[in-house]
Amino acid sequence: MNDIYQILEEDGILPIVNIQDASKAKALLNAYCKAGIRAMEVTLRSEAALSAIQAIANSKMPMNIGAGTVLTVDECKRSLKHGATFMVTPCLNEKVVRFCLDHSVPVIPGCSTATEIFRALELGINVIKFFPAKNLGGLDTVKALLGPFEKMNPKFMPTGGINEASIEEYAPIPNVIALAGSWLAPRNLLLNNDFQGIEEIALRSLRAWRENRRILAGE
Ligand code: 3PG
Repeated sequence: MNDIYQILEEDGILPIVNIQDASKAKALLNAYCKAGIRAMEVTLRSEAALSAIQAIANSKMPMNIGAGTVLTVDECKRSLKHGATFMVTPCLNEKVVRFCLDHSVPVIPGCSTATEIFRALELGINVIKFFPAKNLGGLDTVKALLGPFEKMNPKFMPTGGINEASIEEYAPIPNVIALAGSWLAPRNLLLNNDFQGIEEIALRSLRAWRENRRILAGE
């Protein structure tokens, strides 16, 4: 398996897909692959989610498929059985985190406070989903939290209320590994089967990350 953390940092964006119809999974996957995206998350919030994960995992396309909204160890196990290769959770559920660490499954747990971030780092987690980023004050809060934890080198994946315009703001921050969100799989475009539209958003977002990250590398 590819290193999901390295891929996230290079691509800089992680689509969060709330899929209602698993038959759309392949067209969506094609759109992302054509754009050059190498990781996506399907949230366990619908009946269709596990079938969609399975369809993507079985496709042999160059895609790292993650399960999102993972709340229990059982959901984690079922996602793995269906082919998911990494887990994203909305909160710091230590049972899920420990299961993933024990089974070498990459996991990105959600944290929204300094206490949770510290606990996640203590458990051996390095990449943290900062959620819900926009409601918690966005980049200003990320910067404030980086101060005391900098020596532990946390990497944040801000999520929640992120959109294309957020990329320019967050990408120059070295400890922001990537941005995740449903702006890359808008409900109306999915409903209308507008996979061309989804591919265009993905392309623009990837380009925006690369351009704004370059500033960081001093290029
Ligand atoms: C999640 O599932 O992590 C969030 O609901 C995504 O938030 P967004 O829809 O604002 O991107």
